Amino acid sequence: MPEDFVKAAEIGDLAPGETKLVRIEDEYFTLVNSDGTYHALDAECSHAFALMSYGQLHGDELMCPLHGAMFDVKTGDALSAPATKPLTVYPVKIEGNDILIGPPD
Ligand code: FES
Repeated sequence: MPEDFVKAAEIGDLAPGETKLVRIEDEYFTLVNSDGTYHALDAECSHAFALMSYGQLHGDELMCPLHGAMFDVKTGDALSAPATKPLTVYPVKIEGNDILIGPPD
């Protein structure tokens, strides 16, 4: 994980309601546009191997594409089985047209 904020995407790369797999250096993240607010989370589900960027976004909840666990995109909390562990949430900053992801708090 970079030690400072790093550009992950640009505004317009993902519309409201969309998710995107982004790469920063050697790590991957799930970038979410929840009604115009961007959130960044781990790329992989905390339950097993599934890319959360293939999940469906319902408001502020992201459903895992493999077994259907729901996660809160603001907190990373697992809201339903079979996932029990949260996803790490990374801070997001907008600079001009750029979406930047920073190290977790
Ligand atoms: S891999 Fe996500 S709920 Fe199982």
